[in-house]
Amino acid sequence: MIRAIALLTLIACTGPEPTDDPPETGETGETGDTAVESLACTNFSEPGLGEANELPTLLSETGCVEADNWTTVDTLLPYDINAPFWSDNAVKTRFIAVPTGGTIGVYDDGDFEFPKGTTLMKHFTLNGRKIETRLFILHSTGIWGGYSYEWNDAQTDATLLDAAKERDVDGQAWTYPSRADCRFCHAAAAGGSLGPEIGQINKDYTYADGTMNQIEKWAAMGWFTEDPGTPTSLDVYPNPTDTSSGTVEERARSYLHTNCSQCHRPGGASHLPMDWRISAPLDSATCDAVPNNPGTITDARILAPGEPDRSVMYVRTGNLDWRMPPVGSNVIDTQGLALVGEWITSINDCPTAN
Ligand code: HEC
Ligand code: HEC
Repeated sequence: MIRAIALLTLIACTGPEPTDDPPETGETGETGDTAVESLACTNFSEPGLGEANELPTLLSETGCVEADNWTTVDTLLPYDINAPFWSDNAVKTRFIAVPTGGTIGVYDDGDFEFPKGTTLMKHFTLNGRKIETRLFILHSTGIWGGYSYEWNDAQTDATLLDAAKERDVDGQAWTYPSRADCRFCHAAAAGGSLGPEIGQINKDYTYADGTMNQIEKWAAMGWFTEDPGTPTSLDVYPNPTDTSSGTVEERARSYLHTNCSQCHRPGGASHLPMDWRISAPLDSATCDAVPNNPGTITDARILAPGEPDRSVMYVRTGNLDWRMPPVGSNVIDTQGLALVGEWITSINDCPTAN
């Protein structure tokens, strides 16, 4: 295991400006320099940070997709996570390629440190239409780059965007984030990549050749620097929408982890003291804490025990004009909001400080 401290001591992200600090390399750093040539998507050179001109203009030219431009090449392994990020009702499919010779280190908190050349891809569909494909690549510089491809109306190919864009899809506003926006959420303090961590991928996936736990699959592919252990001994984050996967509190904390904690953690882009990672206890930075900005709420708190309507974390999640998260979304997650409200309602008192 790599010391978790390496993640925690990273320099704060400064908001939507690009932060060039790659995750600190830990003991797996030496494997990181080998394998950029053996990327899954080989048809582009190694772009430096933000140098998107070096990425192909069309998704069909990236080498990540087959002739239909949607089915991924074999070297990209599909994966799924327990607690997905809310994406305005879009359906998402996720893929990963770890370069040959590179391996993944696991921090004590279950987050992953990827070798250089790692490529992550996410397809988005809305009402059955392909709308966006995002690539997130750990460049040879050790810096993650995020790239958004917009699907054409004919659904035949997608074009690389060089700036943020908003578009109407069947009456719904859809936001294509800018590259700086990618790194607002995919910040160094959160380790760059966001979904892949032990508690998120610890679930079965039905591959072309059968169903298998994803951690076992990745281990069988030789992807981990050290054996992470048997899945049953490892964390499983509850699925916020599956009531059988945890208590209201557990599911709400899982929801905040995936939807908020990339910015609301030590060193995160919010520059606020709350730590909403699933591993952090509910403490006085959140519970009964007076917010910087109460808006129009009387006697507001970040979280007012038993009272969602006095709790800024609840109110802002449900208010499009004062929204959290602050980028990328134009539709309220009513199910997630209800879960956070149910959790706050269930809290009688703040935990006393240890
Ligand atoms: C508002 C926050 C936010 C913004 C902005 C954002 N992402 Fe993400 N993204 C997430 C979260 C959270 C996850 C993990 C959960 C999931 O996949 O549902 C994720 C997952 C991904 C993944 C799958 C791999 C991973 O790290 O989990 C890719 C690829 C990706 N994003 C690319 C991008 C790109 C490219 C951009 C910019 C064009 C971008 N994202 C902007 C929050 C964001
Ligand atoms: C992309 C980064 C990002 C994400 C994701 C994000 N926040 Fe924030 N949050 C910020 C920033 C930056 C601020 C400070 C500026 C402001 O208040 O608008 C903030 C402020 C807040 C505040 C106000 C604190 C105060 O003292 O006034 C609350 C409450 C909050 N966020 C809740 C949430 C919740 C709940 C989520 C998830 C549903 C979330 N945030 C997701 C960046 C983020």
